Amino acid sequence: MTTPAPDATDTSRISISAHYTGYVWYRNGLSAPAFVTLAGRIANAALTPVNAFLKGVAGASIDTFLLQRHSVIDHLVSQLIEEQGVEQVVEIAAGLSPRGYRLRKRFPHITYLEADLPGMARRKGALLNALGTGPEHSVKPCNILEASGEQSIQALLAGLDPAKKTLIVTEGLVNYFDLPTIRSVWARMAQGLKTFPAAWYVTDLYPDFADHPAYRYVKFAQKLVGFFTRGEWPLHYPSDKAIREGFMQDGFRDVEVHDPAAFYDQLNLPRAKTATLVRLIRARA
Ligand SMILES: C[S@@+](CC[C@H](N)C(=O)[O-])C[C@H]1O[C@@H](n2cnc3c(N)ncnc32)[C@H](O)[C@@H]1O
Repeated sequence: MTTPAPDATDTSRISISAHYTGYVWYRNGLSAPAFVTLAGRIANAALTPVNAFLKGVAGASIDTFLLQRHSVIDHLVSQLIEEQGVEQVVEIAAGLSPRGYRLRKRFPHITYLEADLPGMARRKGALLNALGTGPEHSVKPCNILEASGEQSIQALLAGLDPAKKTLIVTEGLVNYFDLPTIRSVWARMAQGLKTFPAAWYVTDLYPDFADHPAYRYVKFAQKLVGFFTRGEWPLHYPSDKAIREGFMQDGFRDVEVHDPAAFYDQLNLPRAKTATLVRLIRARA
């Protein structure tokens, strides 16, 4: 008897990371108790000593950059809603993030569609149902690796109002894939977003800053994330310039690359003692 080959598009092993981050958002006052899971509590307890060690030796922990990216994404998204008139937000790989819940309270006129792999989407759907979020805030299954079909990004976008200014958000997703794979996803996003009167994409990205003073601790954190999610966690692009050029080649324009350090005072972010290690991208399709 032969064992069936593992499905290369099944990346549900990554979903455990959403439990971890979901608890980080809660612990830092960004979420509500309904988004907390036992797995999230356990993963956070297990990583507390590691975070303390990294903070001591490298001047920043894994959570420092998680909190930086989460708050700056909130800020970039809020600006698009307030200043550009975005009315439709699709958050892909939303996991147990409370962003949609928070943003819908602040901007009740927007529709918010969350998407994730089927298992996580079911869990999130039940969670939002229990919170009574209503039809303007829903969840659908989506697998970014599916180039076509029911769970593709294209299918997700096809269900939206084509007359509304639209935004795709991803957070904590893109570094789980090698660069050619995630670039093909970005190209499909850029293509799919062109059908809306105006459209943007906002994401975080951990670049490969090989000359960073804490690079060896970055490599350590990289192995740790890979261990927890049973896969690779590659860093992408060596500079802000390379990021900008890559996104333009993938079909985006007006590509902004933001360093969270520029928002330290404005958004009251936790600070890293050395240069920051995460970037936030906002690009137009
Ligand atoms: C680190 S979590 C981030 C969750 C949330 N965005 C946050 O920042 O708290 C990664 C998420 O990616 C989702 N994911 C993994 N592979 C995926 C895929 N192929 N398509 C869509 N989502 C995927 C996981 O289920 C998980 O929810």
